[in-house]
Formats: sequence, structure tokens, C-alpha cells
Amino acid sequence: MKIAILPGDGIGTEIVAEAVKVLNVLDLSFETETALVGGAAYEAHGHPLPESTLNLAKAADAVLFGAVGDWKYDKLERALRPEQAILGLRKNLGLFANFRPAICYEQLTHASSLKPELVAGLDILIIRELTGDIYFGQPRGRRTAVDGLFPGAEEAFDTMRYSRPEVERIAHVAFQAARRRNKRVTSVDKANVLETFQFWKDIMIEVGQQYPDVALDHMYVDNAAMQLVKAPKKFDVVVTGNMFGDILSDEAAMLTGSIGMLPSASLNDRNQGLYEPSHGSAPDIAGQGVANPLATILSVAMMLRYSLNQTEAADRIESAVSAVLSAGLRTGDIWSEGTKRVGTREMGDAVVAALVAQTGGKTITSITTS
Ligand code: IPM
Ligand code: MG
Repeated sequence: MKIAILPGDGIGTEIVAEAVKVLNVLDLSFETETALVGGAAYEAHGHPLPESTLNLAKAADAVLFGAVGDWKYDKLERALRPEQAILGLRKNLGLFANFRPAICYEQLTHASSLKPELVAGLDILIIRELTGDIYFGQPRGRRTAVDGLFPGAEEAFDTMRYSRPEVERIAHVAFQAARRRNKRVTSVDKANVLETFQFWKDIMIEVGQQYPDVALDHMYVDNAAMQLVKAPKKFDVVVTGNMFGDILSDEAAMLTGSIGMLPSASLNDRNQGLYEPSHGSAPDIAGQGVANPLATILSVAMMLRYSLNQTEAADRIESAVSAVLSAGLRTGDIWSEGTKRVGTREMGDAVVAALVAQTGGKTITSITTS
């Protein structure tokens, strides 16, 4: 097993360090190699996704990714911005299937901005198509308009497009995931306006016929955005395109109280995957040691489960995370009255201690925090 470790920028380096500690205490045999990505790679090599980093990722069974980006790179030309690193990895590794679970931990029910009864026990899975749609569709660019409302004016354009195989494969991913859950798929589209998403919907219905045991329904994206805050527990698996999935997954993440808790997985057809927290690089709190490392630690669990076939180790991590939450440890993003505020490193150490305790070592309550 080979794991490429790409911490990236901002809090990326801090949270990945904790995830690596967790990985190392599991007693599994694997090789790791760390490389620069994003703004850090741009500073060192002049490009956010240097050839060497891309090759390392391609050769690995899994990539553990922190986060990229900083406001200071906003003025760079688009091709050199940190975000291009993650887009380039998705494209070059063919990571078309993005899993973004939104789980509300029982211990954190009150951390949500929604009423506790709306989110208690929430467990939904957003499956976002990740290598197509308007994100990657060609042509795109700027030009002088030859038609439209203002011929001769400067204009910019992107292209929303999906091919049949792209929609079919993400549909299969969604139906199969639903089979392992509550057997319901909601396909989110904008079929009332967009040709691309009428096509998407038609193909979802077609593929759905191969999964008679899974219930399929359809929702327009605007309504889905509303239903997510109105009655989020009605969803099981939500499958949608790249653009809508970007937006809805942030919304779903916030239902759980903190985006700092949510892992994600991006897989290709060989089950090679990139694992990253759902949140970004948070430059505003970078370097302070206060970021929540749990999303990244839970991403390691997803990595072990989906790409490395180590289900037992994945379960162990998830129960260790649950144990530290039950012990009352909280980083600032999930802190509330009566719980113990800890920093990034203490949180990582507590998860490590909980893992050790599972095998008969000391218990996590003996961890001292500052
Ligand atoms: C995400 C992020 C990325 C996206 C950005 C950083 C390019 O928002 O992973 O959701 O838009 O896909
Ligand atoms: Mg996003």
C-alpha cells in the first residue's frame, strides 16, 4: 500500500499531521511519501501541482489531502492558483465519484444551526460527480460577443455538458451506495431549464431500472436546497452534478454543526482515491493550532475502507473519534458550554490514545489537555 500525503496550505499541514499520527498508530504496513501541493508548491516550484506531486499521486493507492488556497494567491492567473491543484488531481486521476457524507454525531446535535430534532441522527450521503459539468466543460473563456444581447461587447462563458457514460457511471455509483444504506436515491437536477440536466434525469431513470430494490426520486436543485434545511433526514443518497454538488454539499455539511467534522472521498474506477476533509484551508486560523483535525482523521477512515480494504482499521478510527467526543473534547468549531476546549494537537493525541485504549492501553480520560 502506498499513500501519498499532500498537506497543502493553511490549516492543511496541521490537520494532516494529526491524521498521519493516527495512521501510524494503527499497526498497518504501508509506505508514505509527502509532497507539496497548492500555494506551498507554487512558492517552491512555481506551480500548484508540480509534475513530481502529480506523479506521486498517480503512483499511490490513495492520496491523503489537506487543503489548498490562500487569499494571497487570488491575484495569480487562474492556472497558477492553488485550487487548480485539486482540480488537476481530480481530472488527471479520473476521480469522478465524490462521496460527501453529512453525519450529525449524537454528541454534537446542539452544534447545528438547525433545531436539534431536525438533525438528530442525520446520516445522508451526497454523491457529487466530480470531473465533468461546467467545471471542466470546453469551450470556456473570454471573447468579444458576436451575438446575444450585446454583440461586440466583452463576454465570458463556460460550458455545461455531460456525456452519457459520465452520467451512467455516477448513477451506478449512487445506486450501489444506496444498496448499502437505506435504498433511496434522490437525483438532483435542473431539468425544467437545462438540457444537460434533462439528459441527466433521463439517464438516472434508465439506470435506475437495473436497481428495482432502490427507490429513485428527482428534485430540482433549488427545491433540494430548501428541503435540505427543511427536512434533511428525508434524504438518504443524493446524487448530483459537479456544480450543484459543490453547493449542496457545503449546505449539507453545515447541517451537522461543523464542516470540521466531515470527511470526503473521491474515487476513480480503479478505487484509487483522494481523501480530504470537506472544509478548506481556513487561512484565518492557520498556524494557531486550533483547527479541528477530525474531518481529516475521518478521511483516513474512509481511505482505509474504500481504497485500502482495511475495514476493521476504519471502524476503529470511527469509534475512537466517537469516544473522544463522548469524553467531551472539542475544538473551537464544535465547542459548547460544559465541554473541554482543546487544540488541533490535543485532539489528534486524544484520538491516538483512544485507539491505543481499544487494544488495552491507557484510557483517553488520562489525557491531559491545555
Ligand atoms: C470543493 C471545493 C473546490 C470545488 C474548490 C476548492 C476548487 O469548493 O472541493 O468543494 O469547487 O470543487
Ligand atoms: Mg466546495
